[in-house]
Amino acid sequence: MSEEIYTFPKDFIWGVATASYQIEGAWDEDGKGESIWDRFSHTPGKVDNGDTGDVACDHYHRWRDDVALMKELGLKAYRFSIAWPRILPDGWGEVNQVGIDFYSQLVDALLEVGIVPFVTLYHWDLPQVLQDEGGWPARMIVDTFTEYADVVSRALGDRVKNWTTLNEPWVSAFVGYSMGRHAPGYTDQGEAIAASHHLLLSHGRAVSVIRNNCPDANMGIALNLTPQEPASPSVADRKASTWVDGYINRWFLDPLVGRGYPQDIVNSFGHAMEFVQAGDLDTIAVPVDFLGVNYYTRGIVRSNDISDADNEPRTVYPGDEITEMDWEVYPKGLYNILGRLYFDYAIPAIYITENGAAFADEISPDGQVDDPYRLSYLKRHLEMVKKATQIGVPVKGYFAWSLLDNFEWGYGYSKRFGIVYVDFQTQQRIPKSSAKWYRKVIHENSLDAVA
Ligand code: FCB
Repeated sequence: MSEEIYTFPKDFIWGVATASYQIEGAWDEDGKGESIWDRFSHTPGKVDNGDTGDVACDHYHRWRDDVALMKELGLKAYRFSIAWPRILPDGWGEVNQVGIDFYSQLVDALLEVGIVPFVTLYHWDLPQVLQDEGGWPARMIVDTFTEYADVVSRALGDRVKNWTTLNEPWVSAFVGYSMGRHAPGYTDQGEAIAASHHLLLSHGRAVSVIRNNCPDANMGIALNLTPQEPASPSVADRKASTWVDGYINRWFLDPLVGRGYPQDIVNSFGHAMEFVQAGDLDTIAVPVDFLGVNYYTRGIVRSNDISDADNEPRTVYPGDEITEMDWEVYPKGLYNILGRLYFDYAIPAIYITENGAAFADEISPDGQVDDPYRLSYLKRHLEMVKKATQIGVPVKGYFAWSLLDNFEWGYGYSKRFGIVYVDFQTQQRIPKSSAKWYRKVIHENSLDAVA
């Protein structure tokens, strides 16, 4: 292991992340309501191979073993999400106590072995009944999310101190409502824009409610931030890259820090934004304690406005290293985005809430799973995190995506992101070599000798 990795501060948080729909299974057990992902994955043609999260990693039944596994791996923190329809099967109103108990026991078990829980309230599994009433594009959703945040933080706030409201609202809004690749599978840009606003508003409202129930809460939101670079220095490519940056990154970052929606993107959308009501932008800009960064790759943008022949020749190409998702391995992008968050946005604290890679892992004849490419991916990204901290960026922790191979949304089980291999026939878990390496990194960084 490189010396580089030894020098994280002693209080740096080392964890892994998962999400409810991707691992739990038990989709209709113990009073759980249907989610938009249940509906979507049960609709033929929506998910590769017809895969569903009905069973997934069966974590709902195997959570005790999974906590033991996390302990064995020396993890210090666990970021997981709560399935809204397990808590409020009708979206609001009657609380399903069995659902609360499930997460409550999980939290107790984690604390017992010294693993700090980081709870995400929404990682994409909206109660289907709420989608039937309009879903995120409808303003009523804000009240229901606030109620959900209230119920969960009253139940867990005595023990859970780290809260993330939303995971990747860009994906919920635009991939779900405008590209149609995620639940609920719609293709209406106007709906997607309204959804993004109601997601942000829900975040702002929930922050206050959670703080009320849990005054010492460490509160944040997790965004997918993908730095964009023009494919050439041409004006057309630079314009295009600024636009994609605005659409994916600034559309969420700017209103969260009180700058409102970026005007260039508002203009390009050409929507009236009539759903933005007085006071909304202040609610959205409520100060939070941290920003969660989910980083996987960068984007290289070529303009569509002019033909390739009329444009300047490309100067930026993706490197040769590409993951199973067809994503370029580009560690420097993480350093770049971290620097920007600190120097342009003055973000006071950052956690890397997701970072990882899918590769086609296989069990070797000796029963082990060797994943050198993932190990190298994680290592090089951690080095960038360290470099960022050296220029003053306040990164407080790192969560590898993911603990387990799991249901990778539209790709089903075909993409393995886990540091632990899952045999989906037997549900056997096998820590990959990346998990063993990560364990060592955590251990060495937790030694007293480390400053
Ligand atoms: C992120 C999601 C996470 C997982 C990774 C690969 O966008 O938050 O659930 O699917 O991508």
